[in-house]
Amino acid sequence: MCGIVGYIGKQDTTKFLLDGLKELEYRGYDSAGIALLNDEKIDVFKALGKLKNLSEKVESAKLSKYEIGIGHTRWATHGKPTELNAHPHLGEYSYVVHNGIIENYKELKEELIKAGHNFVSQTDTEVIVHLFENFQNKLNDTTEAFKNTITKLEGAFSILLISKADPSKIFFFKHGSPLIIAKGNEKGEVLFSSSDAPLIGLSNEVVYLEDGVGGIASADSIEFFSDDYSWSTLPSSKQFAQKDGFRFFMEKEIYEQSSVVSDCMLGRIQDNEISFDEIDESILEGIKEIKICACGTSYHAGLTSSYLFERLSKVKCSIEVASEFRYKEPLLTKDTLFIVISQSGETADTLEALKMAKKAGLKSLVICNVDNSSMTRTADYTILTRAGIEKGVASTKAFSTQATVLWMLALYFAKINDSISSEKLQKELHALREVPKSLIIDDKIHEKTKRLSKRYLHGHGFFFIGRDVFFPLALEGALKLKEISYLHAEGYPSGEMKHGPIALADPELFTIALMPQNLLYDKIKSNVEELSARDSTICSISPLEFELSDDFIKTQKTDHYMLEFFEMLVVLQLFSMEISIRLGNDVDMPRNLAKSVTVE
Ligand code: G6P
Repeated sequence: MCGIVGYIGKQDTTKFLLDGLKELEYRGYDSAGIALLNDEKIDVFKALGKLKNLSEKVESAKLSKYEIGIGHTRWATHGKPTELNAHPHLGEYSYVVHNGIIENYKELKEELIKAGHNFVSQTDTEVIVHLFENFQNKLNDTTEAFKNTITKLEGAFSILLISKADPSKIFFFKHGSPLIIAKGNEKGEVLFSSSDAPLIGLSNEVVYLEDGVGGIASADSIEFFSDDYSWSTLPSSKQFAQKDGFRFFMEKEIYEQSSVVSDCMLGRIQDNEISFDEIDESILEGIKEIKICACGTSYHAGLTSSYLFERLSKVKCSIEVASEFRYKEPLLTKDTLFIVISQSGETADTLEALKMAKKAGLKSLVICNVDNSSMTRTADYTILTRAGIEKGVASTKAFSTQATVLWMLALYFAKINDSISSEKLQKELHALREVPKSLIIDDKIHEKTKRLSKRYLHGHGFFFIGRDVFFPLALEGALKLKEISYLHAEGYPSGEMKHGPIALADPELFTIALMPQNLLYDKIKSNVEELSARDSTICSISPLEFELSDDFIKTQKTDHYMLEFFEMLVVLQLFSMEISIRLGNDVDMPRNLAKSVTVE
């Protein structure tokens, strides 16, 4: 997730770009850059880290007058956060900014290198500008060169491109990631941005570009390649715009899960296998078991994967809460792959656990959302989850992308270990591809959680129960509710209820039962029956109606338990959020919590 802006006009181009990037900084801040064009030349400024570093660089430079410019704030997916990898990316005479991931960049890069192009960065983006120039050198027609470029790209790509070959224009295209084009308030002004916020006050008329729509803009005209667009009016509130119209960042992030999980899978699912740019098969050489360490929500993603690593990859797998692991004097052997999971890459307990494993000579891998964080700098290998910045303190999209990466990793290991038949692997890959669909939120489900929430504001506590991977999901559901509603909630394996917790059952005890159709349905059904017999109030989440439940949230029928897992995850997130809203709590910044806990 990155942010892009563009400007054509006679006002202060640099100011629009820098102000715009400031508004988009929430989309990524590994590095930022702008390219400014006047007839004779293109001036470029790039800086690592937060936008203020770029602003300082620009302020201290002697600037000409520019009537065209593009800018970018980066969230690294391919290539470390370095100045060389920062956008805009340069060919010989053109620059591009890009939001998304080019899935086929490796093939394209090889072809272009053979054709004599020189690459300077590790990014997927750089192929776009070389591809454009390759076509332009042959065709001497910028429009055709741009159109040809687009047809060659696979993956997600929202781009702005400028070129000395046609210096009065910005070439634009949207696919996957968001992009808006706007008519500025001044005559001849055209503005571009990844979200509304930078445009508010500067424009009234915008096109929220649909996937597959692109064109060419200049001070005189905006030309679209197809009729698939319509102009609309811009909202006037900036705060509303930053949250894309959602009430809270948490809500926005819940709704974003489908698209960030698609980003997370881009280029990683092949016809009949999984591949990761960041690791190769040698990662499992000499490995007999996996040990996972993490905290909070990341621990729940890890616990989920411990079932998958044993079931699919046939590798022994254990998991521990990082704060416990640190002081138990753990026995660490070099045939163990040590995996840490962390949204931020900075959680002190997890980082220390990683350092201990490294010191003991173990191979280490971090599943992380933030490149160049302390953990990605420490671990031997990193796999990025590509969730984009998560602002809500209660983690949502970080969890769904972690669970997706870990499921993919279990399949990747299964292939290496030859522990899965090709038929089964195909079935798993098919299900994986369906995850983004299972995360799309049905209005009816959201409405239902909203309506039900009013009945769950009292009582003496909640039990979230499930079996197998639905046990970590139950833990995550209970954690979400605790974090933002401050109500007492526990997650339990449903088979464990009879060993003590059931003593609490009465009508004021709310049981949220996760009852997937594709995994141990009958077993969990008996556990819920036991609770119902003791008069607990039952809310079941399942595709199958359950006669003993007091409330019922119906999920879709699918043929894989992991698809049920992701759909139920969304239900649990929405349910907690709606309860928190009814209680009048601060959903995005709940009391006593912090997004990243860098102290012990
Ligand atoms: C804090 C946050 C949680 C998060 C946990 C681990 O407690 O409030 O939402 O799950 O840290 O964070 P990490 O960045 O390591 O995933």
